[in-house]
Amino acid sequence: MNTKAIVFDAYGTLFDVNSAAEKCKDKIGDKWEGFANFWRTTQLEYTWLRSLMKRHKDFWKVTEESLDKSMKVFNIDMSMKKDLLNLYKVLSPYPEVKEILGKLKEKSFKLAILSNGTPELLSELVKSNKLDNLFDDLFSIESVGIYKPDSKVYDMPVKKYKINSSEITFLSANTWDVSGGGNYGYNSIWVNRNKAIFDNLDFKPKDEISDLTQLLKII
Ligand code: LAC
Repeated sequence: MNTKAIVFDAYGTLFDVNSAAEKCKDKIGDKWEGFANFWRTTQLEYTWLRSLMKRHKDFWKVTEESLDKSMKVFNIDMSMKKDLLNLYKVLSPYPEVKEILGKLKEKSFKLAILSNGTPELLSELVKSNKLDNLFDDLFSIESVGIYKPDSKVYDMPVKKYKINSSEITFLSANTWDVSGGGNYGYNSIWVNRNKAIFDNLDFKPKDEISDLTQLLKII
């Protein structure tokens, strides 16, 4: 690989999207995980549908609107909404993330996040987890006004760093995002944290790793 920049998806790849609901599991009960997965799926569906309908709303509004539906479907008391949203702003990173980013930073790669999140959300996420000094850029889809996997999103780091798409190694835990970046031309690597099955979207990942520690061996 001729990698000049390493670009990470944020939600589900660096940060645990289920951690907000997990922190409320005493109140939500055993259904917390099903609820967290439903919220995430609904949130993503809303991003795709809004892009297709050309009715953009930012990721924070989409996160709230998908939460409203999910709380109703899972019969969760609306009084918990504020807590869940506040926890979503400070999602926990996966355990290995900080150490591996620190090691990659020592090797002169550009390091960036490329995410559906708003600039404010991304900045708060990295600050609250003390990761803010590790990234060269936090690319938000708000700059192009359309969600992943539109190619305008994947264009952003290519334009900023003035490099070829094949010089970017892109990591995502979301199989459709791995395909989106791969079909665009990135070296796309799948972070398969939960032994999932890959999608059939005309792209097979260049590599599959179970967490970021394995990245050090292949980069
Ligand atoms: C993101 C979502 C797709 O961070 O996880 O862009």
